[in-house]
Amino acid sequence: MYPVAGGRRAGIVPVHVAIIMDGNGRWAASRGLPLLAGHRAGAEAVQRCIRAAVAAGVKWLTLYAFSSENWRRTPQEVADLTSLLRYYLRYKVAELAAKGVRIRIIGDLSRFAPDVRAEARRAEMETASNTVLTVVLALSYGGRADIVQAALRMAKAIDAGTLAASQVDEDTFGGFLMTADMPDPDIVVRTSGESRLSNFLLWQSAYAELIFIETLWPDFDAGHFDAVLQIYSRRERRFGARPV
Ligand code: IPE
Ligand code: IPE
Ligand code: MG
Repeated sequence: MYPVAGGRRAGIVPVHVAIIMDGNGRWAASRGLPLLAGHRAGAEAVQRCIRAAVAAGVKWLTLYAFSSENWRRTPQEVADLTSLLRYYLRYKVAELAAKGVRIRIIGDLSRFAPDVRAEARRAEMETASNTVLTVVLALSYGGRADIVQAALRMAKAIDAGTLAASQVDEDTFGGFLMTADMPDPDIVVRTSGESRLSNFLLWQSAYAELIFIETLWPDFDAGHFDAVLQIYSRRERRFGARPV
């Protein structure tokens, strides 16, 4: 599960970049625009970011689009975000599919309207065989909820006799998480100057390099993406071992 200590790896491209896309509200407020304009501009930044990830040769890009706590926002904002998501899944996925992007979704989709769930499943199915880059959309996702659902399913497997308690280790447990077949993120980026994880990939980011940047998400572009990869390549990853 933990790779060997790598030391500095100038020019080495991370396999998996995960991003907490934050700052849409402040971006809109600073321009005197409605919140929805900030979220729309955020969706455009998503397309730029995906193009940059493809160009850089990153294989996995996980985007925190809606947290399990974001349901606490006003009904109007939740409705606006849901509409944007529906539009994105319906009309923007084709452009990604043409670039060889595969879409995966993690989170509690059952909380979305049936038509949004159907669009999400369709996007996954239509892109399932693409191999250039996997974009994982975290929708109604919470790290703690992910850990709890994994523990519950693992307990049921033990109850049913398909898994022995003595077989349980970190890899076994990881196999019950929503991210089961994904590598752990090498980098977790958060935009907008906030320095917290806000319940994102708690288990999976155990050894991720955390990179916090001031840019508001709607301003994020290929230059920011490349700057993040630069910062990463200067970091020394040890995974607990003595650096060589
Ligand atoms: C991130 O931007 C988008 C979502 C959480 C859906 P915010 O809407 O949180 O933007 P700020 O933090 O209010 O600026
Ligand atoms: C985290 O941002 C969730 C997403 C970016 C989807 P929030 O803006 O919701 O997080 P807090 O409330 O500032 O911690
Ligand atoms: Mg925010």
